[in-house]
Amino acid sequence: MATSLEGKVALVTGASRGIGAAVARALDGEGVKLALASRSGDDLGIEGAVAQPCDVGDYDQVKALVDAAVERFGRLDIVIPNAGIGTVGEPLHELPIEDIDRMIDVNTKGTIYAVHAALPHLIDSGEGDVVSVASVAGLRGLPTESVYCASKHGQVGFMRSLDHELRERGIRVTNVCPGGVATDFAIRDGHGRTEGAPELDEMMSGEDVAEAVVFVLTRPRDHRILTISLRPVGEPSWG
Ligand SMILES: NC(=O)c1ccc[n+]([C@@H]2O[C@H](COP(=O)([O-])OP(=O)(O)OC[C@H]3O[C@@H](n4cnc5c(N)ncnc54)[C@H](OP(=O)(O)O)[C@@H]3O)[C@@H](O)[C@H]2O)c1
Repeated sequence: MATSLEGKVALVTGASRGIGAAVARALDGEGVKLALASRSGDDLGIEGAVAQPCDVGDYDQVKALVDAAVERFGRLDIVIPNAGIGTVGEPLHELPIEDIDRMIDVNTKGTIYAVHAALPHLIDSGEGDVVSVASVAGLRGLPTESVYCASKHGQVGFMRSLDHELRERGIRVTNVCPGGVATDFAIRDGHGRTEGAPELDEMMSGEDVAEAVVFVLTRPRDHRILTISLRPVGEPSWG
């Protein structure tokens, strides 16, 4: 039986567009109060949400948003590290160092920073959840995606290790690992696709991933889901 999320408080990073925006809207629909992190600081028009410009690669900005959320709502129960970027399609020797640094900063360090800043409050909550939106690239090596894969393996490994540490404190830790999702990310970032490309129609939507996140969060508290790996039917599973 699903448990209610009504009245819980969640931090969603990368919430202004794509998967993060879909997750934020789905959680709003479940009665969750929201803190929304993105560089643009978009509040998605969600009433009562705390939203301010926040680059997840900057710990002070992440901490400031967590503090603002706790000041407004008095608690924090859920963290969804989702903000991510990917420069793919280039072999490593052609990848600029600044792209390497940025992927590690946003995808890996951004995940660690969000959890680190929120953790004292999740412990206080007694019923915390961390659901990280990682990727199939965190489970497999993929061609011309070496640094993106490294950043996502870092995200997944961080979460898997944390599960050992946090389980006994009542905090559940989950990696959600999608394949292709038709967002801005799938159009830019070296995929070579343009708006309206036919393969986008075969991809999942941000809402599909948001449903998986809500499923994880609404499981009864006596069990936890460690990994959800979801793929469009048209996409191979890469072994
Ligand atoms: N789309 C896919 O095919 C796919 C597949 C597997 C996994 N994923 C993962 O899913 C997550 C979300 O991707 P998406 O497809 O929704 O991408 P997206 O549509 O490009 O959205 C990315 C979101 O992250 C925010 N963001 C980017 N850099 C940030 C930073 N430094 N600090 C804070 N926010 C930042 C963006 O907002 P601002 O620009 O306002 O900062 C935006 O809200 C990523 O971790 C990605 O790796 C995506």
